[in-house]
Amino acid sequence: MKVPSIKVTPPGPKAREIIARDAKYLATTTKTSPIVAKRAQGSVVEDVDGNTYIDFSAGIAVMNVGHSHPRVVEAVRKQTGELMHFAGTDFYYDVQARLGERLAKLAPGKAAKKVFLANSGTEANEAAIKIAKWSTRRGMFLAFLGAFHGRTMGALSLTASKRVQKERFFPSMPGVVHVPYAYCYRCPYKLTYPSCDLYCANIIEDLYMNTVAPPADTAGIFVEPVQGEGGYIVPPPGWLTRIAKIAKDNDLLLIADEVQTGFGRTGKMFAVEHEGVAPDILTVAKALGGGLPIAAAVFDARLDFGVPGAHSNTFGGNAVASASAMAALDVIEDEGLVGNSERLGKRMADRLDAMKERFDIIGDHRGLGLMRMTEFVSDATSKKPDPKVRNAIMKDMYEHGVIALPCGESGIRYIPALNIPDDMMETGLDIVEDCIGRATR
Ligand SMILES: Cc1ncc(COP(=O)(O)O)c(C=O)c1O
Repeated sequence: MKVPSIKVTPPGPKAREIIARDAKYLATTTKTSPIVAKRAQGSVVEDVDGNTYIDFSAGIAVMNVGHSHPRVVEAVRKQTGELMHFAGTDFYYDVQARLGERLAKLAPGKAAKKVFLANSGTEANEAAIKIAKWSTRRGMFLAFLGAFHGRTMGALSLTASKRVQKERFFPSMPGVVHVPYAYCYRCPYKLTYPSCDLYCANIIEDLYMNTVAPPADTAGIFVEPVQGEGGYIVPPPGWLTRIAKIAKDNDLLLIADEVQTGFGRTGKMFAVEHEGVAPDILTVAKALGGGLPIAAAVFDARLDFGVPGAHSNTFGGNAVASASAMAALDVIEDEGLVGNSERLGKRMADRLDAMKERFDIIGDHRGLGLMRMTEFVSDATSKKPDPKVRNAIMKDMYEHGVIALPCGESGIRYIPALNIPDDMMETGLDIVEDCIGRATR
């Protein structure tokens, strides 16, 4: 099978039929490209019209081990035949307990950990909100502008990434104070690293905590170690360490949302490891399940509710999803995918840096490991985001066989499976480069 191979410009006739049915019966969500998948294996997606694509989207950073990894498929098949669901919150079974133990031991930091299992990143963050409120008896949170923590009313109150996510949903949970993130390409304070001395972190303690977010009322700081939906923004060295210190000095919990960055995506098992930071609560989802929905809040055991019924759910730790997660973690460890992400990430970074040099419409390239993006601007001086050119490039990309996702206001993200073959990644990047070249003319 030749990859990529575009026999009919997507969406082809079969795809158009499914898209029409979807549009008629499914709620409006965030659809970005008219790709209708039939099957996928590794880093290759085949659509219903017989086109094949290189996948640079990995189901929004879910398929870190690649699509339908044989070991994950086998674990799911076996578990499905034995026990599919038994309500792990109210009863017991082995695979859930083993997954809890594994995540508790995997999470950074020496403190003993416990795990709450959930079904989505949003729900893991809801659990983190409740664990923090319960254990501190405080109701306020600090979070960052540009953050994405989910869309239910608790998690949405922490989210501050796009207006459309918030509009018409006010009020959500009260008591969240948002502060600017460490976005050096567009520093909100017009300062430059390192002479800024991390002003954007210091101001939290110097100004916000002395005015609108008193530590006596604030349970914790929610932070993405690399901001995801906000635009793959990588804070400068030392920033997360400073945030962790501010949290500790003021007796606030540090809650790291690694829903997108977790499980090798950034070239470390967890992105906080780039700074050696151990959060009090770590939330994970996406890649955890190897393709099935499962999520977790992994927290310092001292924060546990301890009272049955304070928090629970029906599907958390579902037996099949837990077995799938165990198999995905085996693959990540046995196939050295964290190291591979770092290695391939460097290779991809070199290519994207070269493209940035070559094309004026690329304002910035940034990322860690295989979590990378390019930001498109109308010109390098004004840095005005250019979503139109970004959309045109993304369309050209899928028409030439590369699937990707938008990122932030005017970026494209490149998040292949962590085991994408080297030559396939290079072919995908060749196509990206051609598409950017055509948009520049
Ligand atoms: C950092 C982060 N947190 C939370 C979420 C929400 O996760 P989910 O869509 O699984 O609810 C996302 C989803 O993109 C995310 O990137």
